[in-house]
Amino acid sequence: MKIAIGYDHVGYILKQDVIEFLAQQNITVIDFGTLSTDRTDYPIYANRVAHSINTNQADLGILICGTGIGISIAANKCQGIRAVVCSDPYSAKLSREHNNTNVLAFGSRVVGSELAKMIINEWLTAKFEGGRHQRRIEQIQLIEKGEFHE
Ligand code: RB5
Repeated sequence: MKIAIGYDHVGYILKQDVIEFLAQQNITVIDFGTLSTDRTDYPIYANRVAHSINTNQADLGILICGTGIGISIAANKCQGIRAVVCSDPYSAKLSREHNNTNVLAFGSRVVGSELAKMIINEWLTAKFEGGRHQRRIEQIQLIEKGEFHE
């Protein structure tokens, strides 16, 4: 399992705990930065992580900004990305089971380190249920291509 991680200057404060948590579970982490707490722009890191998933460098992605909102919006503009911003483990679990999310985002101003680890754990251990949920994902893919018709 390879996970791409990206974060802006606000997410930077939480990234080390997240990287160590993933490494403890024998997950290969591909770190797309940022490199410091110097102010930067979150879309850069959303785009890098999305690209790594779309080119099969990474299986999944984790994004961190202040709230998780901007960076997840940016990721969801990338082809094939289903990003969820979560501040609770239940939503993280359901986002995999029903929505087959391939990117998890959260905010370093919203969740602390231990809650972030619980959210990641639920997200990584949940399995996509397929069935009716697969049909809805296919509808989302059609919306993405501008080909969805009711
Ligand atoms: C940066 O100040 C902040 O806007 C960013 O980290 C994020 O919270 C945006 O959604």
